[in-house]
Amino acid sequence: MISMCGIIACVSKEKIPILKTILNSLKKLEYRGYDSVGVAVIDDSLFIQKEPGKIDDVAKNINVNGIFAKVAIGHTRWATHGKPTQKNAHPHSDCTNSIALVHNGIIENYLELKKELLAKGHVFQSETDTEIIAHLLEEELKETHDFFDAFKTMIKKIKGTYAIAVVSKSDPEKIFLAKKDSPLIIGVGKSQNFAASDIPAILEYTRDAIILHDGEIAVLTAESVYIERNNVPIEPKVVKVLWSPEMAQKRGYPHFMLKEIYEQPIALRNTLDIPETELLNAAQTIVDAENIIFIASGTSYHATLHAKNYLIRHLKKPIYSVIASEYDSLKSLVDDTTLLIPVSQSGETMDVIRALNDLKERKANTLAISNVYQSTVARLANHVIYTQAGPEIGVAATKTYTSQVAVLMLLSYTASFLNGSLEQSEYHKYLEKIRKIPVMVEKNILNSELQARQLAQKIKIAESSFYLARGQSIPTAMEGALKMKEIAYIHAESYPAGESKHGPIALVSENFPVFFVAPRDETEKKILGNIEEMKARGANIILVTEAGSVAIPRADTTFILPKMTLTIERAINLIIPLQLVAYYTAVERGYDPDKPRNLAKTVTVD
Ligand code: F6R
Repeated sequence: MISMCGIIACVSKEKIPILKTILNSLKKLEYRGYDSVGVAVIDDSLFIQKEPGKIDDVAKNINVNGIFAKVAIGHTRWATHGKPTQKNAHPHSDCTNSIALVHNGIIENYLELKKELLAKGHVFQSETDTEIIAHLLEEELKETHDFFDAFKTMIKKIKGTYAIAVVSKSDPEKIFLAKKDSPLIIGVGKSQNFAASDIPAILEYTRDAIILHDGEIAVLTAESVYIERNNVPIEPKVVKVLWSPEMAQKRGYPHFMLKEIYEQPIALRNTLDIPETELLNAAQTIVDAENIIFIASGTSYHATLHAKNYLIRHLKKPIYSVIASEYDSLKSLVDDTTLLIPVSQSGETMDVIRALNDLKERKANTLAISNVYQSTVARLANHVIYTQAGPEIGVAATKTYTSQVAVLMLLSYTASFLNGSLEQSEYHKYLEKIRKIPVMVEKNILNSELQARQLAQKIKIAESSFYLARGQSIPTAMEGALKMKEIAYIHAESYPAGESKHGPIALVSENFPVFFVAPRDETEKKILGNIEEMKARGANIILVTEAGSVAIPRADTTFILPKMTLTIERAINLIIPLQLVAYYTAVERGYDPDKPRNLAKTVTVD
């Protein structure tokens, strides 16, 4: 059983209605999975409650206000193998019901450990890999009476990836933690300490965080944090988190996704405000490399395509964007003259981590783009630039995507300037235009909103749709289609417009929605022919374009943006109507856009 989950733990000096805290924090982690939920509280006894379902539904069956205790843990799960049943939900316990633990990751050697434990008479309740940890601890406790010793021995026996939080009746005022390859942070509060998979979970209680690193184990009490690695104590390094708790709330928007769409101007303003030396240094690594490989998944991959397409033309050297799970095909190109650019919002996507780890061994230089401070991808790279989009809770990436595009294109222009292919005066004109993008985006969202809503009412009954574009707008069409698929569950296929007549057009019949991303660049006239081809088959033409486009009279619905000139302006602005259309179509079809089925925001399995 593989799990991809969110974990939370809290230890308090006084007894508090601790499940209120745990469930509140779990809500912030729901983006990591929402198949099943569970909590464990240590008081005089160990109390575990867990159920399949979303947090709000499961919380109805929990006496949230009635349980006062000092120590509790919680878990939200996303299963990839096996069903999300009550028994498979975390926390898991041992045979004596004295230990409870939550886990995010995969215990690779669980079958052999389980065999040994079964032979020793242990009885298992679930099919999970996680449960063996509880029984291993129970077994170790027969040898030693010190729970921490048992915990350390257990960690040596398990192989795989993990963020683990354990509580035990034998040491009831402590939380035991271990981390390898799955994210785990500690929140340092006043007479209260926390552990969680991610920062938003603790923000309401503290902004002082300690980032645990691979191989570290920790013990939390209400007033202390002890960390060690290889039996050697480590001085905890507390960092101030700049995200405010409000940044992780909905602030009156019906969904996080809509709030995050509206946050794009501020996310872009903060992201584009990169200190000059940081920008120049990163751009220099691009200039110095003999070949460059962007590595990313999903939406982040689409962001890389914009930069790749631009850089190929301007730097005149081999530049590739590879889907992280398919990196193997480019392996032979990587050596010490290569620059790898992993792009990952979360910085925890396993496909990206695996690709990076493997390719890095070939001595390549690495420059990561991530939205999460000290994420695994950020820590693995030699250089990092953080997008400053703030926490993104909606599963569908919106503000982090446009922020990635902003950083990648700004870097691309700066690299072109440094290598002489973009003149200084031109570069400065570009920077001037880039400064105006956040305001443009603000207007664009407001101007597109009503039309997106109206269009959603019309296309909500569609089963399938096309997203077509040419040239530099193809990644935007790909991203628009992904948004529609993942939250509105309408099949959406993106295609280079010129290629659509070589097959896909066979699907088009009366009222079939065809989105055209058609800016007024060198492709403006050519795409008109493709629009006519679709129109002739009765397609419902939805056009995202710029003022004055020759295609406007041929469309059924038009999103008209101001005239633009730079790739960065277009890449950021043209996607916005498509984000809004996907959002409103999901709402019109009765789906929750924040929690699309079968998806989790951070995909920590490969
Ligand atoms: C789509 C989406 C996913 C992610 C992908 C990579 O809206 O969010 O396709 O883009 O899972 O995630 P990161 O960027 O965290 O590596």
